[in-house]
Amino acid sequence: GGSTRYEAESASLSTGGTIDANHAGFSGTGFANGANAVGSYVEWQVNGPASALAFGYANGTAAARPVDISVDGTVVATGVPFPATGAWTTWSTVTQPVNLAAGTHTVRLTATTADGPANLDYVDV
Ligand code: GCU
Repeated sequence: GGSTRYEAESASLSTGGTIDANHAGFSGTGFANGANAVGSYVEWQVNGPASALAFGYANGTAAARPVDISVDGTVVATGVPFPATGAWTTWSTVTQPVNLAAGTHTVRLTATTADGPANLDYVDV
C-alpha cells in the first residue's frame, strides 16, 4: 500500500521549538522549526509496518543539519545529514531505511549540532 503522511504540526517538539508557516511550500498547515541547539528534537507517533521513513524538510543555510534518528528510543541512524536545500522555501526529502513492525512507534530526530534540526515538514511512513 501507499505511505501515510504524518505532518510536523502533529509532532512533539523539545523546548523552544515552534510550528511555523512563514516559508511557503510546506505540506499541511505548517512545519516544525526546532530550537537551534544540540539535543533539540522533533518526535512523531507513527504506525508500522514500514521499511522507510521519508522526511520532508528545508534547510536554507549553507551547512547540513545532522540528526540522530531513533525508533522507540533506540538510535537507528547517527548523524544523518539534512543537506542545504538552497532556501527555506525549497523543500526536499531525506529517506531513512528502517524495519518497523506493525503497531505504533515513536520516531525522533535529535539534532547533533548547535544549529538544531532543519525545518521539518512531515514524515511519510
Ligand atoms: C531562520 C528561518 C527559520 C529557521 C532558522 C534556523 O530563522 O527563518 O525558519 O528555522 O533560520 O536557522 O533554524
